Amino acid sequence: MDVIRQKVRVDFEYPVYFTTGVLTPSNLLLRDVIARSADESPSRVLVVLDRGVHDRHPALVSQAEEYCRRHRTVLNLAGPVLDVPGGEAVKNDSRHVDAIHAAINRAGLCRHSYVVAIGGGAVLDAVGYAAATAHRGIRLIRVPTTVLSQDDSAMGVKNGINAFGKKNYLGTFAPPFAVINDAEFLRTLPDREWRAGISEAIKAALIKDRAFFDLIEQQAPALKARDLGAMEQVIRRCAALHLTHIATSGDPFELGSSRPLDFGHWSAHKLEQLTAHRLGHGEAVAIGIALDSTYSYLSGFLPEDDWRRILSLMPSLGLAVYVPELSQHLEEPAFAEATADQPDPDHPASVLRGLDEFREHLGGTLTILMLRSIGAPFDVHEIRRDVMIRSIGVLRDFEQAHRARHAAGGEDHHGRHPSAGSPAEPERTR
Ligand SMILES: NC(=O)c1ccc[n+]([C@@H]2O[C@H](COP(=O)([O-])OP(=O)(O)OC[C@H]3O[C@@H](n4cnc5c(N)ncnc54)[C@H](O)[C@@H]3O)[C@@H](O)[C@H]2O)c1
Ligand SMILES: [Zn+2]
Repeated sequence: MDVIRQKVRVDFEYPVYFTTGVLTPSNLLLRDVIARSADESPSRVLVVLDRGVHDRHPALVSQAEEYCRRHRTVLNLAGPVLDVPGGEAVKNDSRHVDAIHAAINRAGLCRHSYVVAIGGGAVLDAVGYAAATAHRGIRLIRVPTTVLSQDDSAMGVKNGINAFGKKNYLGTFAPPFAVINDAEFLRTLPDREWRAGISEAIKAALIKDRAFFDLIEQQAPALKARDLGAMEQVIRRCAALHLTHIATSGDPFELGSSRPLDFGHWSAHKLEQLTAHRLGHGEAVAIGIALDSTYSYLSGFLPEDDWRRILSLMPSLGLAVYVPELSQHLEEPAFAEATADQPDPDHPASVLRGLDEFREHLGGTLTILMLRSIGAPFDVHEIRRDVMIRSIGVLRDFEQAHRARHAAGGEDHHGRHPSAGSPAEPERTR
């Protein structure tokens, strides 16, 4: 046998900036980010814009043109600003990636040029995938415009689109060149998007930082009331946790089986699919977090007090913990519906199939994060279906009780001990 072995170390770094008014000509940040590494001058830039952002910020295109004119010694627009549909639509149809590739080609971008992507997590994922695959990688500057993309998705090294009905089936790991978080964009977010992004911050707190969970809990009324300062604080801390994880986990490209940042995501991804994306990613993650926290509690891993705090935080932020799709194919049909299908947890439209799909997507052995306490996670490699099905029932009861209280004019709870439906007894055997 003859073999030549080698070991290659690749370092990478990307700054994450926090600013306001990124395309205001007097804001020199974007110019300086590009100038710092300019190996050709001026650099060629293609701007790709989320249509949902464009609708709410119609002056952005002329601002981008003016910005490049004003700073033309450093950056030039290499083609017209391209706008693409916002939300999951851009990831569900590969023709949008084709259109971005075509624009990159028409603009004659090279590997030293820049694609500036402005939009929510879905647009950043699709543009990131196109940029990573054109010429095998063009520099990408992400300008995330939603809470979720500013606190989570834009911080990481992943991009991709959906295929074969599966989330993020096509994609690459490719670090961005830089990320610029501009808080001004958040003002025009619909309430749903504003709330949904907080779930990723709750996730980061649950797996990394108990004091951060305390802070979110304490700031819940301000966050729900759209206090931008409170949100900026949450985004900053969540982004920092995320970046520290990527830098120090030893597995930035997720080659191992453990995925701490995917806490609650096995069911979230499946729920996005089962609801045909009626649920946004962040909304689905809130449910996924509630589900795995409840499973952790019922399994006897997570103390009741912590579990109640997690569950009651969700409605205090306007986040639901249950949708009917969670129970489909898992329940005995009611007597009156005796003709309904019998339970079938293996049915392709049962949420439990999300476990197989999660394992297949990540590779290796099934590895799901559960909680020992807020801030202290651990991996499990087996999920008890009966306990998971009970957990779903607990969430349904919790959601019903919350809605009933709400309908009766009750206040949302921000406290630590709301009546969280009937408490289920944890398994004492574990
Ligand atoms: N790459 C990763 O590591 C990673 C991590 C988490 C989530 N994601 C992906 O991110 C996507 C979800 O992203 P999201 O939650 O940011 O939502 P989104 O991108 O789906 O956007 C939601 C809606 O908000 C609109 N919008 C965006 N910014 C706006 C603004 N400032 N004002 C008004 N409207 C605005 C969009 O046009 C869209 O209609 C999912 O596809 C998810 O899979 C990726
Ligand atoms: Zn997520």
